[in-house]
Amino acid sequence: MDKIGIIGLGNMGEAIVKTLLKSGAKKESILCFEIKPERARFIEDSYKVKITGSVEDLVKKAGYIILSIKPQDSKKLLKSIAPLIDDKKILISIMAGITLSNILSATGKPLKAIRVMPNICVKVGEGAIGIAPGPDIKKEEMEAVKNIFLPMGKTIEVGEELMDAITALGGSGPAFFLLFLEAMIDAGVKMGIARDKSKIICTQVVKGTLMMLEEEGIHPTLMKEMITSPAGTTISGLAILEESAFKGNIIKAVEKATNRAKELSL
Ligand SMILES: NC(=O)c1ccc[n+]([C@@H]2O[C@H](COP(=O)([O-])OP(=O)(O)OC[C@H]3O[C@@H](n4cnc5c(N)ncnc54)[C@H](OP(=O)(O)O)[C@@H]3O)[C@@H](O)[C@H]2O)c1
Repeated sequence: MDKIGIIGLGNMGEAIVKTLLKSGAKKESILCFEIKPERARFIEDSYKVKITGSVEDLVKKAGYIILSIKPQDSKKLLKSIAPLIDDKKILISIMAGITLSNILSATGKPLKAIRVMPNICVKVGEGAIGIAPGPDIKKEEMEAVKNIFLPMGKTIEVGEELMDAITALGGSGPAFFLLFLEAMIDAGVKMGIARDKSKIICTQVVKGTLMMLEEEGIHPTLMKEMITSPAGTTISGLAILEESAFKGNIIKAVEKATNRAKELSL
């Protein structure tokens, strides 16, 4: 398999290196470049991967080039590496808000590019990863890139027009969910349960619910109905949540976050 080159070794770059190695990728198949020498040294010492002497060196040797730098640094970098990219190399951008057409206009020439939008959970191999192919990407090339990200979580192929929605749902999603979890823990405390015990109960509720959905292959609505008995405790609580449009508010929050992602990418 072609070498995987990672440009930018910040939070995400490191997470990618770490998960690739954990999934059994050979150290020799990974090339890295980072602008800050002390950060590059730290990654080299921690993971024993090869840090190339220059970004050009990485681009020449890698078949898959993952751009993991900040969006605002992308234009200059893309311009500088463009002459070294041919149709055998695939550029993979995880940069938020940088569109495929931004990439093409910065490089000034047609090239094979794929946009990938991971979320923070890639650090534990359970990311929700949106992936949108550029126009010239072949099916087998897309499969190869999906395989690179497979150890980091689940990849979901979408058209590029949905990348802002993926950013909102998958990227901001953990924060929305954590607000709910925090509220549940506080609710336990309000009812007199010690905070540490309330936290155990609430996290176990989440873990158990997700495992049941997965192992029994049931739809969330159906599982909710299984625990909502007539005139019972669950329906009493659900009715209160719906009084303040619990579902509607979540939908609006995701819509707002999607629009914000659109604004940021302009
Ligand atoms: N963090 C997330 O949860 C997340 C989720 C989805 C997507 N993303 C995207 O992933 C990308 C990386 O995010 P991050 O959180 O890892 O950012 P980060 O921690 O700032 O890492 C980027 C690293 O790249 C370095 N760099 C800058 N220009 C470079 C160049 N020309 N060549 C090599 N290295 C260079 C930076 O150095 P300096 O600090 O000196 O600039 C920094 O060490 C961003 O585009 C972001 O939108 C992040």
